[in-house]
Amino acid sequence: MEITLESPLDMHLHLRDGDMLKLVAPLSADFAGAVIMPNLVPPVTDPGAMVAYGERIATAMGDSPFTRYMTLFFTKQSEQQLTLAKETPGFFGYKLYPAGITTNSEGGVANLAEAESTLKMMEEMGIPLLIHGESHGFVMDREAEFLGVYKHLAQQFPKLKICMEHITTAAALDLMEEFENLCATVTLQHLIITLDDVAGGALQPHLFCKPIAKRPHDRDALLQAAVSGHPRLMFGSDSAPHPRCKKEACGCAAGVFTAPLALPKLAEIFARHHALDNLQGFVSGNACRIHGLTPAAKHVTLHDTPMNVPTSYRSYGQQVVPMYAGEQISWSIKH
Ligand code: NCD
Ligand code: ZN
Repeated sequence: MEITLESPLDMHLHLRDGDMLKLVAPLSADFAGAVIMPNLVPPVTDPGAMVAYGERIATAMGDSPFTRYMTLFFTKQSEQQLTLAKETPGFFGYKLYPAGITTNSEGGVANLAEAESTLKMMEEMGIPLLIHGESHGFVMDREAEFLGVYKHLAQQFPKLKICMEHITTAAALDLMEEFENLCATVTLQHLIITLDDVAGGALQPHLFCKPIAKRPHDRDALLQAAVSGHPRLMFGSDSAPHPRCKKEACGCAAGVFTAPLALPKLAEIFARHHALDNLQGFVSGNACRIHGLTPAAKHVTLHDTPMNVPTSYRSYGQQVVPMYAGEQISWSIKH
């Protein structure tokens, strides 16, 4: 069995910077493009820094055609700043983080009411808003508690394109049904694991991420929505590499590294659910339609020949451990 995907996209990707960027960028090169997260240290807040970062990504990527959809770290903006961002080549949208909610988000939004004038202008200018939707409440309830904010924003700004990033709950899917201006990304790991896989037995630091994996019925609802071809659900890996020493540590950093195995594993999952016909929409078609994207032309053929996932990837003095390290996945990329 095999399937050829046209221009697969990763709608939520962390590529980092420096030596880590050099290590991980080529491991996303089977994708035709990706939405690049801005949570560097310091975060990417202005168009000049964004363009420079995009150029470093292009260099690290090598020859492979790869369309960069760059995001800016959301802070309150003037109309002039928004106009400049919108006119900057490669700009895709703003990523809003509640202050302190995840890795390198300390400079995020502490008071959403203060952001509303910016959101109003973004709505008028057609600039997408990507949100890390978690409250500061109990870890298992953070996404559910944030749904009221999504609902408020969807009602207040009916023309603003709001993407709920890396959703992890059935309730988030239900909310998406209520508002046409909401769409969502979902990661690979949240289609597969629950909190039990992270902390039910020996603690698995390489499966620890924000938002934390939830309950079986959440995972099952997300999987069902993905394989059934939900038109507003898009693949966003949230592949979030951290050095091995930061993961296998007291105070483990949040993030699961999935970029090199995401497409084979997705093919395995969709094939198992007799849903390979819906994979193109999930990894590209929905995003292209929703956002009007025309990524680099790239054909990627996947086949049901096993892939051995390396125990780690290392170079440039960096080492990262992927999901399924040392295990076999029953599909692979046909090169
Ligand atoms: C991400 C990271 O490491 O940058 N971590 C994660 O657990 N997903 C940040 C994020 O997207 O929350
Ligand atoms: Zn992320």
